[in-house]
Amino acid sequence: MVEVASPSSSFGAYTSPRSSPAPYRSPSSKKPLWLYCVYLLFGCVCFNAFLTYRRQKAFVRTTLAANNNDLMDDSVNADGSISYSAGAEEHVVSSNYGSSMYGGGIHTARSKPKTEPTRGARMAKLENNILPKPTNGTADFNARKSKAVAISNFEGFSFYVLTDTPFTDWQGKRLRSQMADLRHYLKDNPQRDNITFGVHLGNTQQVSNSLCMEESYNQTAYLLAKGPRPTLVVPGNSDWFDCPFRDKSMELFLKYYGPDFIPKEWHAEHYEPLHLERSEKNPELFVFYFEGILFIGVHLLHVQAEEETHHAWDRRMKINMEWVASSVETYFVQHNIRGVVVFGHAPRTARTRPFFVSMSNYFLNITSRQDIPVMYLHGHGNGFQVDTKFSNETEWYSFVDVQIHPSGVADPVLVDIAPQVQGKVQALPEENNMQTTLFEGLVRIDRRKGIYEDPMDIPKRNLR
Ligand SMILES: *[C@@H]1O[C@H](CO)[C@@H](O)[C@H](O)[C@H]1NC(C)=O
Ligand SMILES: *[C@@H]1O[C@H](CO)[C@@H](O)[C@H](O)[C@H]1NC(C)=O
Ligand SMILES: *[C@@H]1O[C@H](CO)[C@@H](O)[C@H](O)[C@H]1NC(C)=O
Ligand SMILES: *[C@@H]1O[C@H](CO)[C@@H](O)[C@H](O)[C@H]1NC(C)=O
Ligand SMILES: *[C@@H]1O[C@H](CO)[C@@H](O)[C@H](O)[C@H]1NC(C)=O
Repeated sequence: MVEVASPSSSFGAYTSPRSSPAPYRSPSSKKPLWLYCVYLLFGCVCFNAFLTYRRQKAFVRTTLAANNNDLMDDSVNADGSISYSAGAEEHVVSSNYGSSMYGGGIHTARSKPKTEPTRGARMAKLENNILPKPTNGTADFNARKSKAVAISNFEGFSFYVLTDTPFTDWQGKRLRSQMADLRHYLKDNPQRDNITFGVHLGNTQQVSNSLCMEESYNQTAYLLAKGPRPTLVVPGNSDWFDCPFRDKSMELFLKYYGPDFIPKEWHAEHYEPLHLERSEKNPELFVFYFEGILFIGVHLLHVQAEEETHHAWDRRMKINMEWVASSVETYFVQHNIRGVVVFGHAPRTARTRPFFVSMSNYFLNITSRQDIPVMYLHGHGNGFQVDTKFSNETEWYSFVDVQIHPSGVADPVLVDIAPQVQGKVQALPEENNMQTTLFEGLVRIDRRKGIYEDPMDIPKRNLR
């Protein structure tokens, strides 16, 4: 472009029209060179904008595809050998959070991997050492008061679920718009006051964009707080694990989405009825009971064996297993429970399987619990999926694994829980093909608009 016009000639061309009374000359007259330059420049800017848009779209697609491949690799590797990378080890050693809370002792013994127990043996040991141990369920509320349970009533209610967003600036705008939509919906439909809370299933940033800066946590917490109801966040990979300083990032996660988030951002009338409880040592773990449903939030990540020491991984697995164990054992004794929902980030894979096996020990073969519906709701995948493989395999028929599509490109999902009258669930119908009912209508998953036709086309009215 430089050779098209020298500065002096374009300046000369610029001054001349000012002296002329008619800036637009007849079509036959020759247009000044500077004008062509401006056209060319404008063309370049437009073309560049177009390319950026295409890149962003391609980025979304490849990210999603990569996620998928990731999962495939993991399941292919099923019981594959564990390899350690020195790089990954340093990563964890440099992290206080990883070492003090989840890392356990990181010792050099791992330089002799042959003396390690095999993963299967290690996991079996882990599963058998979880406390509290499962009871036979005779002390459960449902067993003790079966007559009262058989005629009990519960209100129906709903909650919204998001995951894996915002990864980019436009997904930040999208999140703002999604929260505004929900807020407007509740304002326009006051009878839908039974939308009770929200959950983000982890990955509140894309590390390559946010660099795990405090600003990113603050900004996303601010956007989630625009939502109409208290919103819980379970940790995902990019929330701390993928960050350069894991301990620092986990601190930020807890600072912005931890125990202070909800009381700071929402009215007491909205969160008090939930009676949220959190783990004292690991406050990202939560549990609450609402209208017959037990909700448990866990810290389950999708991590390859070489990304972390097995001590760190086992430690976190054990914390999750024990959180579910103690939540189930205490809440089942105290409450009339008609369903359980577990919120986590990671999909069910060969590596996370021990968590599910451990959980099944607290339901399977326990008369008062084995028919209670249990749903595991997670993100970190591509596409909406209802998976019953584990349930079929283990004959735990009341278990279902549900994956939600990343909310940067799809509507937040609304989960409806049916009311119960005189012990009878008032089954929810499927009203359109975006709705999926589970457990004979006790649960309805409503994907609403589903995947947006153009995720970057965000309604302007919601951005004010
Ligand atoms: C269940 O466990 C309790 C206490 O552990 C015990 O007293 C009771 O006999 C057991 N009941 C059955 C049916 O096994
Ligand atoms: C929530 O309330 C609305 C209005 O009363 C009702 O139509 C809807 O069925 C309720 N939702 C559930 C899940 O019960
Ligand atoms: C967080 O964001 C709010 C509003 O966007 C701003 O007022 C506040 O200073 C920010 N805090 C930090 C620590 O960045
Ligand atoms: C449940 O019972 C069946 C048959 O009695 C047994 O094969 C299975 O191992 C038991 N499962 C658990 C988790 O205890
Ligand atoms: C359930 O498992 C059996 C064998 O274990 C298999 O034949 C069947 O196809 C499975 N069904 C589903 C829905 O996965």
